[in-house]
Amino acid sequence: PRVAVVFGGRSSEHGISMVTAGAVLRAIDRTKYDVLPIGITREGRWVLTADEPERMAITERRTPDVEELAESSEGGVILPVDPANREVVYSEPGSVPKALGEVDVVFPMLHGPYGEDGTLQGLLELSGVPYVGSGVLASAVGQDKEYMKRVFISFGLPVGPYVVIRPREWELDESTARKKIIDFAGEHGWPLFVKPARAGSSIGITKVDDLSGLDEAIAAARQHDPKFLVEALLRGREIECGVLEFEDGPRASVPAEIPPVQSHDYYDFEAKYIDSAPGLVPAPLTPEQTAEVRRLAVEAFDAASCEGLVRADFFLTEDGTFVINEINTMPGFTPISMYPQMWEATGVPYPELVDRLIQAALR
Ligand code: DAL
Ligand code: MG
Repeated sequence: PRVAVVFGGRSSEHGISMVTAGAVLRAIDRTKYDVLPIGITREGRWVLTADEPERMAITERRTPDVEELAESSEGGVILPVDPANREVVYSEPGSVPKALGEVDVVFPMLHGPYGEDGTLQGLLELSGVPYVGSGVLASAVGQDKEYMKRVFISFGLPVGPYVVIRPREWELDESTARKKIIDFAGEHGWPLFVKPARAGSSIGITKVDDLSGLDEAIAAARQHDPKFLVEALLRGREIECGVLEFEDGPRASVPAEIPPVQSHDYYDFEAKYIDSAPGLVPAPLTPEQTAEVRRLAVEAFDAASCEGLVRADFFLTEDGTFVINEINTMPGFTPISMYPQMWEATGVPYPELVDRLIQAALR
């Protein structure tokens, strides 16, 4: 089969998506699959890129960019939005379009808005092309921290205290919205986390220690999304669990624990990808705790109607209960990412994991 691996994209996680795709391009079985590497630039242009995964890595604390690998500085890949004609072409101004053949399956290795949020999934539905991972609804739910929590709550999953400020609320009456946050802080205490509703990799998130840092944190979150959330700090341990869909349904991996990074206040972008300490796989939990978190991870997968895969992130709070923080419908697959490591420890090595995901999409 012909697999289009799509990466980069318009979100702030452009570079991380490339590192993720680089690892997948290295692991994919080339004797079984014909690979078409397609990058989406930060501006949204779809381009054919060099098939050089070694150039898709973090170097000198910097993530890569699709423009550096693009085959051409003009034109781009055109995906037909016609299920009856799936011929992909490369079109450059002034030249004859180059036929790229048909694609059997798309592996959207994209994180964040315009990739992990259902928009790309909608385009692929219109085109009639099978794709790896969740569909439109689950992707949209998994990308929006407000609706994700509402879905979890309605399915009885434990969620931490939070408050949402919608765009209109903030734009029409900042002082009332600010008071809502201050009242929340009065109830749950400082510090608080201010987060854009739709973003990832901790980008745009600020830990706020007191009132003096609030406005700056709100401005930072709103740079990524006019809707933002305020969450209480949950004291405890960070535990993650992977879910993968097998022929007979979703199964959970062994869980992992994210150790706090000494030099960082919380699990922020740099702690995740640059100064990261290795995660503990499997997490040192009791057998009961392990069973519980695995059960909750599959429940979260089902609650949002996910397909293919999900990474569910939890806090094990000081009173010994799990609280779900979020799900990621296209979790990181970088060499240091937890999702592939958790499956490796569960007995599914990286190349088999990639193969299972593609096969699930083709089923
Ligand atoms: N959003 C990042 C890639 C993750 O969840 O792994
Ligand atoms: Mg996330």
